[in-house]
Amino acid sequence: SVEVRVGLLGLGTVGSGVISIIERHQEELRHQVGCPVTVRKVAVRNIEKQRPAEVDRSLLTDQIEDVLFDQEIDVIIEVMGGVDSTKEYLLQALKSGKHVVTANKDLMAVHGTELLNVAAENGCDLFYEASVAGGIPILRGLTDGLSADRITKMMGIVNGTTNYILTKMTQDGSSYEDVLKQAQELGFAESDPTADVEGLDAARKMAILANLGFSMNISLNDVSIKGMSSVTKADLDYCDQLGYTMKLIGLAQRDDGRVEISVEPTLLPNKHPLASVHNEYNAVYVYGEAVGETMFYGPGAGSLPTATAVVSDLVTVMKNMRLGVTGQTIQAPLHQRSLKEDKE
Ligand code: HSE
Repeated sequence: SVEVRVGLLGLGTVGSGVISIIERHQEELRHQVGCPVTVRKVAVRNIEKQRPAEVDRSLLTDQIEDVLFDQEIDVIIEVMGGVDSTKEYLLQALKSGKHVVTANKDLMAVHGTELLNVAAENGCDLFYEASVAGGIPILRGLTDGLSADRITKMMGIVNGTTNYILTKMTQDGSSYEDVLKQAQELGFAESDPTADVEGLDAARKMAILANLGFSMNISLNDVSIKGMSSVTKADLDYCDQLGYTMKLIGLAQRDDGRVEISVEPTLLPNKHPLASVHNEYNAVYVYGEAVGETMFYGPGAGSLPTATAVVSDLVTVMKNMRLGVTGQTIQAPLHQRSLKEDKE
């Protein structure tokens, strides 16, 4: 077609970033995909709300169906969050032949396999790079860059909000409540930040990483979770005196068919590479049998970094559309999983 038409669901922190990148990088996008990209409609909850100047208000609608059933729209970008109803919307989109790009880790960690299967059955692409570690291309790193390897361990800081809180409490002596508020204002935190501070957001991301990295069916229930909301300033001072840094660490390991996945506050010696990952930055250490140690580092939350991952997925969809190879993103898992607990 002469242009690729996008429908956007949601116009919060990430959605505004998506509009902004499509606008500002039109030349780069056109260069890669050979045609212009236009945003045709944007579904929002509140039409009256103030929006950034880059947003064309005539595109806004408060009826999701207007976007989902618009025949002219080729790709749906979902950045509104939510699980059950959002899943139904995306299933409808896929079944009507629309490709989907989503940043929704809550959804993908729980219903990812089903959605990917439906996408494949309908010849549609479904990509979700932005769901893990914001601007870091970690899903592509695992599925493309390291696809020839056998990955046995991943360890990372995959929640920007908690890393921001731990950093600021340690460095500036700010209180937990104050820094959490800052993280919310900066657009790092989830609408309900409990998911961040209780480790659930990181657990969802570790489940997604383990699925792809280990090529196994891993679900959120397979992750053991401890949050960081009870960490005090005194704990952090004490760690500091001993030469340690506290981070909320996600760990996924496998040994033959046995996997172990956890999220918990962890003391790292100050010279550990993950100890110097600060503020909203994320990093994922990946160990592959052949490649050895790799580390992926970058901004893990925030509008433009996360939107970069979303729009890069859009570029991939557009390239696939042009080549006529959409709908090939799912593969049957290679390994059976047996969790440590299964033995007991
Ligand atoms: N609340 C998430 C975080 C946003 O702080 O990492 C990015 O997924």
